[in-house]
Amino acid sequence: MAELIFPEGFLWGSATSSYQIEGAYNEDGRGMSIWDEFCRTPGKVMNGDTGDVACDHYHRYEDDIELMSEIGLKGYRFSIAWARILPYGLGSINEAGLDFYDRVVDRLLEKGITPYATLYHWDLPQVLQNAGGWPARATVEAFANYADVVSKRLGDRVKNWITHNEPWVVAFLGHALGIHAPGDEDWEAALATAHNVLLSHGRAVNILRENGDENTRVGITLNLTWADAASNDEEHFAAAKRMDGYQNRWFLDPVFKGEYPADMLEIYGEVPGLQDGDLAEINVPIDFLGINYYNRAVVKDGAGVGPMKLQFVEPEGEYTEMEWEVHPESLYKVLKRVHEDYAPAEIYITENGASYKDEVAPDGSVHDTQRLNFLKGHFVSAHKAIEEGVPLKGYFVWSLLDNFEWALGYDKRFGITYVDFETQERILKDSGKWYSTVIEKNGVDD
Ligand code: GCO
Repeated sequence: MAELIFPEGFLWGSATSSYQIEGAYNEDGRGMSIWDEFCRTPGKVMNGDTGDVACDHYHRYEDDIELMSEIGLKGYRFSIAWARILPYGLGSINEAGLDFYDRVVDRLLEKGITPYATLYHWDLPQVLQNAGGWPARATVEAFANYADVVSKRLGDRVKNWITHNEPWVVAFLGHALGIHAPGDEDWEAALATAHNVLLSHGRAVNILRENGDENTRVGITLNLTWADAASNDEEHFAAAKRMDGYQNRWFLDPVFKGEYPADMLEIYGEVPGLQDGDLAEINVPIDFLGINYYNRAVVKDGAGVGPMKLQFVEPEGEYTEMEWEVHPESLYKVLKRVHEDYAPAEIYITENGASYKDEVAPDGSVHDTQRLNFLKGHFVSAHKAIEEGVPLKGYFVWSLLDNFEWALGYDKRFGITYVDFETQERILKDSGKWYSTVIEKNGVDD
């Protein structure tokens, strides 16, 4: 067993998002978001679950930060709820909302934990949705204003910003496949959303820098996958290329090259709402790319996924509770590929983790060996990429806490900490205890 040591200063962290953990949905002036609304729409979220209470982190943030400190986290990635700050999306500012994040940031810094703040993790103020949502270009301006308000208050202490979390999900799961809020099924709207989200990223980068200082660093988080063809047949290879275009290149190309990929433009026809100058704005240099990686995709040509004409196949292998294949090798491939094709200055894994059925054992512990092994395999892959020159600077495990898993409600547990949703008791799982030792040694046994 060799010990694989990570570069000095490697940022080991964990990630969460506002709607998934905060609760307190109607307290201290918070406005409603599209997820509050979506959860109240019958049939959209499993068991009718909502984020009304979630992990009650809004009230328990001090204990949760204490837990982070006990684990030894160096970094914490969280998101800000737009509707806590601007209940109407634009206009009047809710100081109590800003105060909450002030307290969180101050406490993190006291504990020596570096905050990585995400501006948008899917909870659009409902008022903005009523006015057209992301398909409407006015939302780009609203986002720029929100970025300005937040960074004016927190920019003296938050030095690492992520504009958006997973634009692919916002666009396609939210507007084409109808699985996430706002639940649209309209490919036009999805493409307009993808474009407006990217444009709002470009605008926010400059604002975040203006409201910061020379230490301010800004990035975006994309959920990337590795696309394999189901067989060596040419049509399946072509399907894998489309999958790569749909999921990865549609976002990477505009951000890093200032263009949309030509092969995908042929499939989509055009980019709704694209104006002269937009691509240059989207292409603004960033300090780092955040990658969320969960699994690879194995696809074949066939009828499915709108104009993409592809079908997913499930190869033999090990799967998590999400029915996602465990495939750490593909994390290595994604990292190498992004480095070679797009060369971001720095890369962070801003999410990686797994859902398993966790139970509290009679001894009061949660023995989540599968999750521990999942993380270990992916850390080893990340290490291999670093050895080969990929500028990977940190790793945020998803997630600190079991939490509200969107359309799947509380049915799927992703935490390194178990949460009893009746009592709000937290129990650090075996994977969390093991993660502590990884952080302490800055390394992992192969
Ligand atoms: C994501 C999401 C998380 C999910 C996680 C597991 O960005 O995809 O940030 O909110 O909970 O991915 O599905």
